[in-house]
Amino acid sequence: MYSPSQYQKLVNDFLANKSYERDPKKLYEPVKYELSIGGKRIRPVLMLMAYHLLKEDVESILPVAVGLETYHNYTLVHDDIMDDAGVRRGMPTVHVKWNQTTALLCSEIMVLHAYEGVAQANPSSRDAVLQLFTKTAIEISEGQQFDIDFETRNDVEVAEYIEMIRLKTSVLLACALAMGGIQGGASQKDCDLLYSFGEKIGLAFQLQDDFLDVYGDEKTFGKRIGGDILANKKTFMLLSALNLANPTQKDRLSQWIAATPENPQEKIDAVTALYNELGIRELCLSKIKAYYAEAETLLSSMSFDVKKKQVLWDYVSSMINRNF
Ligand code: IPE
Ligand code: IPE
Ligand code: MG
Ligand code: MG
Ligand code: MG
Repeated sequence: MYSPSQYQKLVNDFLANKSYERDPKKLYEPVKYELSIGGKRIRPVLMLMAYHLLKEDVESILPVAVGLETYHNYTLVHDDIMDDAGVRRGMPTVHVKWNQTTALLCSEIMVLHAYEGVAQANPSSRDAVLQLFTKTAIEISEGQQFDIDFETRNDVEVAEYIEMIRLKTSVLLACALAMGGIQGGASQKDCDLLYSFGEKIGLAFQLQDDFLDVYGDEKTFGKRIGGDILANKKTFMLLSALNLANPTQKDRLSQWIAATPENPQEKIDAVTALYNELGIRELCLSKIKAYYAEAETLLSSMSFDVKKKQVLWDYVSSMINRNF
């Protein structure tokens, strides 16, 4: 096994060697930009680590791992248009730096490159890998549509939110881990456990993303703080606040949800203050910890070597207190 930064380096070097020096420049420059301005590379690292639980030659699955990362980056380009987000990884988003047409076309290329990479899976696992990838991609779009639908709904339940984030976020982490297992030749039982493990990490991961959108620091998080509040995203925090609020607090919160003040910071500050009054910060953190704990239990029931599993867990648990 390697260290997480060694896995990241494998992914980044592979990406750097892919030539985007092609014409038309307006098409390939933004692809190169999105794939090179940073990013934690969690999904490919998870895939490589899962594969390494079984086999040594991790380099052989790099095209698949990078394909999945390319798909992730495509979803981010579209997500930033949908969420009207101007900053990602501390840099201007593609549709802001260029324009929406450029963002749409460059993300098409990213989807195609993603499939091209994933299709390079070893023939013995290719069918299963492609099937899982396609199912995952469809679910992500479903999750993204629910996310947008929920912005204008005021009766969203916590269970609906959890299912929405499972679709938009968890399934890709689950897919990464299961694909590592499938390509490594793991048993069906271990592949299913890897998938469930990824689902739990993914739920925790999106809850953290939502948490950092309120309580993070723009410099380390790389995204504008308060965007979810302004968009009335029905996060676990907002739904819990609505559930826990007394009638006066609920009125205040509902008024802010309906408001689009001239100074957006006013809304962000007021909603954050209500979260603080209601203990939402602690509630959210304990939910995140609970999902990580569920993931750890799932990992312990997999049949791989304990020391190898520990390497995977060390990486995953380094995310528990992430601020980026
Ligand atoms: C951002 O994903 C989108 C979510 C699913 C929360 P990451 O937090 O993995 O983004 P990068 O790739 O590291 O920038
Ligand atoms: C992202 O959810 C999910 C996908 C990109 C599929 P968010 O909208 O919360 O992600 P960020 O915060 O913009 O990265
Ligand atoms: Mg977004
Ligand atoms: Mg979004
Ligand atoms: Mg977010």
